[in-house]
Amino acid sequence: MALDVLLGLQWGDEGKGKIVDYLADQYDIIARFQGGPNAGHTIVIGKDKYVLHTIPSGIFRPQVINIIGNGVVVDPITLSKEMANLRAAGHNLDNLRISNKAHLILPTHRWLDAASEASKGKEKIGSTLKGIGPTYMDKTGRNGIRIGDIYSDEFTQKYNSLKEKHKNLLSLYPDVDFDFNEEEEKWLKSIKIIKEIPVVDSQYFINKALDNGKKVLAEGAQGSMLDIDFGTYPFVTSSNTVSSGVCNGLGVAPKRIGKVIGITKAYCTRVGSGPFPSELFDENGQELAVIGKEFGATTGRPRRCGWIDIPQLKYTIMINGVDELCVTKLDVLNTFDSIKIGASYKIDGKDTDELPYDLNSKGIDINYQEFKGWNSDLETVETIDALPQEASSFIAELESILEVPITFISKGPERKNLLVK
Ligand code: GDP
Ligand code: IMO
Ligand code: MG
Repeated sequence: MALDVLLGLQWGDEGKGKIVDYLADQYDIIARFQGGPNAGHTIVIGKDKYVLHTIPSGIFRPQVINIIGNGVVVDPITLSKEMANLRAAGHNLDNLRISNKAHLILPTHRWLDAASEASKGKEKIGSTLKGIGPTYMDKTGRNGIRIGDIYSDEFTQKYNSLKEKHKNLLSLYPDVDFDFNEEEEKWLKSIKIIKEIPVVDSQYFINKALDNGKKVLAEGAQGSMLDIDFGTYPFVTSSNTVSSGVCNGLGVAPKRIGKVIGITKAYCTRVGSGPFPSELFDENGQELAVIGKEFGATTGRPRRCGWIDIPQLKYTIMINGVDELCVTKLDVLNTFDSIKIGASYKIDGKDTDELPYDLNSKGIDINYQEFKGWNSDLETVETIDALPQEASSFIAELESILEVPITFISKGPERKNLLVK
């Protein structure tokens, strides 16, 4: 069996959680392969709303095993809170597993994240301050502590030694508020709680499951434009968010990858600093933010809004090898008389649909293509064929320009607000 992938094609928050929750029913295993609690994946089931940060979005399907893969960085404090919230809502977590090779976020990683951002001043990345960058730095610097280490006699010694190293580093940075003693106490307590999650050699677990004909879906976090290699560096996260990251983040060979499903909003958002060529600073931008309720699921920060950006999507479709597209939040455009897409860029007077090396410094003008809005509610629309004519044309045009079939259209936050081809 092949392993399918679902991931974001923009700057995150495309609605991955909602779609994975829907698709989970068709899979045996859902696995996160990168990122950590910087992610906030929202799932609305009836009147209940959940925001998952570390736990995969298949957790609401009791028959589906959910794996936190080796490529993920785990903060025991956030993870134990997520566990408590889910249990309080009546979900047992018997279907959750964690890789022994996933790395731990220490309190001092979050402290370093805050100090590093403070030292950057106006140049700051706009990190979620969850300790993601410093934890991946320790991973690649070969200093990290992994989930498997929690069970070792040397755990305390390893923890203390890394903590002291971090404290020395912190002396090089500006002072930032961080109640270390309180955070350390919470962290040590949380370590005991996360020990309740069965630890697995996730690479064996997943490969054997595939050999036995099980279906696996890898759930991306962040978005492709936040990828450490292919995103708007340095305004990115610290992991490979693109489909190739699945191989390293779960221990599966490239030839195991099956279908890649890419998600994009019907417009575009970004939270944090960094370039965003199609960003709107006018009332359309404000309307998208208000109607789309564009506030970060992890930090609550307002998201920047703009029109969908075709060169950007073509780029991430190429890098990920996207086979199918899912367009979310189409309903947010219901009341717009006119809807635009950024069809191509104009850089130094030349039209192009390729992203320049440095999206940060280039003056990019966008050539927009305009569509008539449908000015109606999509609530009662139950099939793709029943979309208002203007909405159909918009979707058909996206499909034709992007050269990828659109197989899912989301038109509301709830599980049921989804049109499937
Ligand atoms: P993720 O990080 O990709 O899982 O996305 P987030 O959960 O951070 O942000 C997506 C937001 O949009 C959440 O508040 C979802 O409940 C909401 N959402 C998802 N799909 C739709 C949709 O089709 N329409 C509307 N109006 N909201 C949606
Ligand atoms: P989901 O999975 C949107 C952004 C941050 C910041 C940059 C680096 O919910 O789509 P980091 O904390 O990784 O050091 O932040 O990346 N960012 C996200 N933006 N959605 C996310 O996750 C994000 N995770 C990180 O805002 O600009
Ligand atoms: Mg999110």
